[in-house]
Amino acid sequence: MVVNMKGRFITLEGTEGVGKTSNLNFIENILRDAGIDVVRTREPGGPPLSETIRKMVLDTHQDDICDDTELLLMFAARAQHLHQLIIPALEAGKWVVCDRFTDATYAYQGGGRGIDQSRIAILEKWVQGDLRPDLTFLLDMPVEDGLARASSRSEPDRFELEKQDFFEHVRHTYLRRAKAEPERVKIIDASPSLDKVQHQIGEVLSEILAQ
Ligand code: TMP
Repeated sequence: MVVNMKGRFITLEGTEGVGKTSNLNFIENILRDAGIDVVRTREPGGPPLSETIRKMVLDTHQDDICDDTELLLMFAARAQHLHQLIIPALEAGKWVVCDRFTDATYAYQGGGRGIDQSRIAILEKWVQGDLRPDLTFLLDMPVEDGLARASSRSEPDRFELEKQDFFEHVRHTYLRRAKAEPERVKIIDASPSLDKVQHQIGEVLSEILAQ
């Protein structure tokens, strides 16, 4: 797949309850204020078919879904998302801001479920070719604190029903990936107050906007 990317692709990642929504709003506002045409989206999800897959994988009644099915559904949703929304937007020069992307697959299906990273890499190459985010914010905080925040907001989805140990593996995998790719993945300490978190994000965004 050859993508003639004129826009930029920014993703936001983290374990449950790290504050993705408020920080996505913040990122979107900064970019819009800078005059950039922004498309905001999420994974799994985006176009209608991918949102249908999202409902399936988050549904707590799907308690017998096997790990490979879960992995393939994530990439099926992603293939449709790339084809219908992300690639056309990037080619049109828009900036895409996406709530989670393939780092989440490495973290949740790889770290959490224990699927070999090399198998995920095969699907990544198949579905994305060489397309990778230009910049990824990893909102990081102790798992326990995030889970306490997440549980106070809504009914848990199929992933939120997992035990703390699952999310410790997810966090560890995210951090390992960030350390392996420090240019792309910026670790943001998500524990302090929102304005302190946003200050860190703002500094990184000013750099990319200055390029
Ligand atoms: P969220 O968008 O509300 O965080 O919910 C999405 C859930 O899906 C979250 O628990 C992480 C999970 N997920 C995966 O397991 N693999 C993936 O590739 C993606 C994009 C999300």
